Amino acid sequence: MSRLLVTGGAGFIGSNFVRYVVENTDHEVTVLDKLTYAGNESSLKGLPEARVRLVRGDIADAALVDELFAKTDAVVHYAAESHNDNSLHDPRPFLDTNIVGTYVLLEAARRHGTRLHHISTDEVYGDLELDDPSRFTESTPYNPSSPYSSTKAGSDLLVRAWVRSFGVRATISNCSNNYGPYQHVEKFIPRQITNVLRGIRPKLYGAGENVRDWIHADDHSSAVLTILDKGELGETYLIGADGEKNNKQVVELILELMGASSGDYDLVTDRAGHDMRYAIDSSKLRTDLGWAPAFPDFAEGLTATIQWYRDNEAWWAPAKDATERFYAARGQ
Ligand code: NAD
Ligand code: DAU
Repeated sequence: MSRLLVTGGAGFIGSNFVRYVVENTDHEVTVLDKLTYAGNESSLKGLPEARVRLVRGDIADAALVDELFAKTDAVVHYAAESHNDNSLHDPRPFLDTNIVGTYVLLEAARRHGTRLHHISTDEVYGDLELDDPSRFTESTPYNPSSPYSSTKAGSDLLVRAWVRSFGVRATISNCSNNYGPYQHVEKFIPRQITNVLRGIRPKLYGAGENVRDWIHADDHSSAVLTILDKGELGETYLIGADGEKNNKQVVELILELMGASSGDYDLVTDRAGHDMRYAIDSSKLRTDLGWAPAFPDFAEGLTATIQWYRDNEAWWAPAKDATERFYAARGQ
């Protein structure tokens, strides 16, 4: 049994990882989460109190972080400002959390000799053209486009520097777009599902041709646990499940699965600097560590996700109106 500290464990993917750890290991988990607009205590509801405890706090609070690292065997670092559209509106919190927060964790890992796994994104590699047959690999040069992805890229480079300069025992993973339950309604898939549930037409940015490489959040969690157990220190692993789809295809599938006409959506103002395509080659993780996704069928995963939003309106409704006001003010 190990004691894990999970930063951002009340967010979408962090809470999925905490549930996954409780179900598949005997580790004890402390969640460190600031409970920003994106964090939700109820995403951890029902988990055994003897195994999971929540500490409300900021990863940039060095004294709190130091106290928690003293009682921890390993840290999995999910906490971040995570939404591209917000980063175009107000970049500052992205620098404070993604850059300074990660720095504070690295300094604590250095002092305590703690094993750290840093969660990052495929967006650090920039984007690919639609007709480019290549996919991102661990050796693709960094080329981030947005304030969000540039701060994630910065955090990855800090981790690499702390490994090389100070011998911090860290690994990094860069994952593609996640979907599943407990995702904030600001993000593409839950926004469109909850729009249909509210009788609002789904909104596609630009022409809807941008491609994302979708992976179920459970598969992201199993990959992270695999890297924590078997990953080589100092290494980076790309996580993906070969799920490339353009946004139009995703919206049409949501409409079809929800019993609406597949043309019932609006094209709206495009995102500034909108990345065209992400695609992950996860061969290293599969070959070196023996990982494989358990949810390769996107339509099946999406059907279950739609059902979850139907069944859990009390979880998402409080954020829906403010989110739609934010988008409406931008013509989106
Ligand atoms: P999210 O926005 O749903 O959750 C982020 C969590 O971090 C929230 O609970 C929030 O309260 C917490 N947090 C924010 N600032 C904090 C701070 N200063 N101190 C402590 N807690 C803080 O994000 P997510 O989609 O679950 O993403 C989690 C991580 O995974 C991020 O690092 C993101 O870059 C990465 N990632 C996300 C995706 C995706 O598709 N969502 C894909 C690849 C990587
Ligand atoms: O690739 C990994 C990244 O995936 C993570 O690092 C980010 O944290 C996560 O938010 C996600 O970033 P994206 O910008 O790709 O996700 P988002 O859900 O915001 O948008 C997905 C695609 O859908 C993107 O091409 C923009 C488009 N979109 C989004 C919204 C909210 C629409 O067409 N309409 C919408 O209403």
